[in-house]
Amino acid sequence: MDMFVVKGGKPLQGSAQLSGAKNAALPIMAAALAIDGPIVLHDVPNLADVRTLCELLNTLGVETSRSPDGNLHLEVTDTEPCLAHYDLVRKMRASVCVLGPMLAKRGRACVSLPGGCNIGDRPIDLHLKGLRALGADIRIERGYVIAETDGLVGTSIYLGGPFGSTATGTCNVMAAASLASGTTTIEAAACEPEVVDCGNFLNAAGAKISGLGTPFLKIEGVEKLTGTQHSIIPDRIEAATLMIAAAVTRGEVELQNVRIDHLTAVIEKLREVGVAIQQTGPTTLKVSAPNQPRFQPADCIALPYPGIPTDIQAQLMALLCYADGISIVTDKVFPDRFMHLPELVRLGAKIRRESSSAIINGVAQLSGASVMASDLRASAALVIAALAADGESVIRRIYHLDRGYDQLETKLNALGANIVRTKDTPANMPASLVLDDQTDAAPPQLLAGPKWLQKQFKARKKV
Ligand code: EPU
Repeated sequence: MDMFVVKGGKPLQGSAQLSGAKNAALPIMAAALAIDGPIVLHDVPNLADVRTLCELLNTLGVETSRSPDGNLHLEVTDTEPCLAHYDLVRKMRASVCVLGPMLAKRGRACVSLPGGCNIGDRPIDLHLKGLRALGADIRIERGYVIAETDGLVGTSIYLGGPFGSTATGTCNVMAAASLASGTTTIEAAACEPEVVDCGNFLNAAGAKISGLGTPFLKIEGVEKLTGTQHSIIPDRIEAATLMIAAAVTRGEVELQNVRIDHLTAVIEKLREVGVAIQQTGPTTLKVSAPNQPRFQPADCIALPYPGIPTDIQAQLMALLCYADGISIVTDKVFPDRFMHLPELVRLGAKIRRESSSAIINGVAQLSGASVMASDLRASAALVIAALAADGESVIRRIYHLDRGYDQLETKLNALGANIVRTKDTPANMPASLVLDDQTDAAPPQLLAGPKWLQKQFKARKKV
């Protein structure tokens, strides 16, 4: 397993190019199951999740390949398979996006239930509700969703749930309704830019979806969808992550290939805490932290789009650890998405959880420590916190980060960060984080603590 060794304290400087959005690419790739003929996707990020979905699509009769220019080619060559196996689905929840397109095109689909994950409960009841409304016969057996139909029929569907709408659920139902007979309306559809991108892709393939980007979609069913080309939108979560990294290190970074209109809530919040953000061109933004030593505290609530994304909640929390005062971060989309909290505390942050909120008492400086990544965005938050911390940090289980960021450490290092990827072995621990006297042969020293700790005590005595 890989880990990062991050040496903090270097202001990020320079420019970085954003990759395509993971959360747009995944449902779009899955929609290939509903399409006849070759598909070419531009700007698909190079991520573990994309590779996992390719693997799953291969088992479902879709050929996938990357051409030398980086484009992803997909084409259905076998319509017989219908089983999305647990071994692949459990690696990545977005695999559930194959359900709607496969059911609509092949009349049957057997997809493993994805189960929960580190960011909380992840039910798919709304996906199933939408597909059932279209006439699918759906049952759950042995951990699998088994769905069948003799032909889906357009209808009116309400997709709102206790935490808002559902992004991948809207994509699933939208793809299925595109091949249903008659017209479907979806109320309380997700408005996330990634859902809009998926709708635009389906329209390019011949679907008739209107209302994209609003909670009310109208979908006129068509006989068939045909292969097309499509460019994936830039990743707004990667953009926000890099903006926060630039700010927390008091750096100055220009981001290229940004959809600025997708980042309004994040830009507003960062400006509120004292980060300077300037639009330098139609798709470029300059982010710089002013000379003031501390950020302003803030109240942040993660909400469905166009609110602050839940996928940036952890990274914002890392920034607010350095604010001068008390901030509150609430997640209304995933109320249990706080696994990063105890790890930030290991770096010296003062945070207390209250239900779906975290109360952060900002400190002047975090200090390097050994921490563990628990999920994708938690990993990003730990990298951000470590970039501005005093000394070295080790971030373990970095495979979470590789699932959803396209070469994040390469991009950060090009901006001046000092992040080394290495194998997670004791030999690769930085000396500053090794408990140097902790050997079986030294019980008396162990009682007194390792040398580095003894030095701390001695230093204190002298004061
Ligand atoms: N929900 C239900 N029932 C459902 C589906 C969702 O109650 O049938 C609830 C969820 O539990 C959650 C809320 O509705 O409380 C929103 O969930 P949603 O379905 O929108 O999430 P998702 O589609 O499974 C996508 C992204 C997530 C992102 C969320 C919210 C992909 C592949 N994943 O997940 O991305 O956090 O939308 O915007 O698009 C990430 O990239 O790190 C990530 C987790």
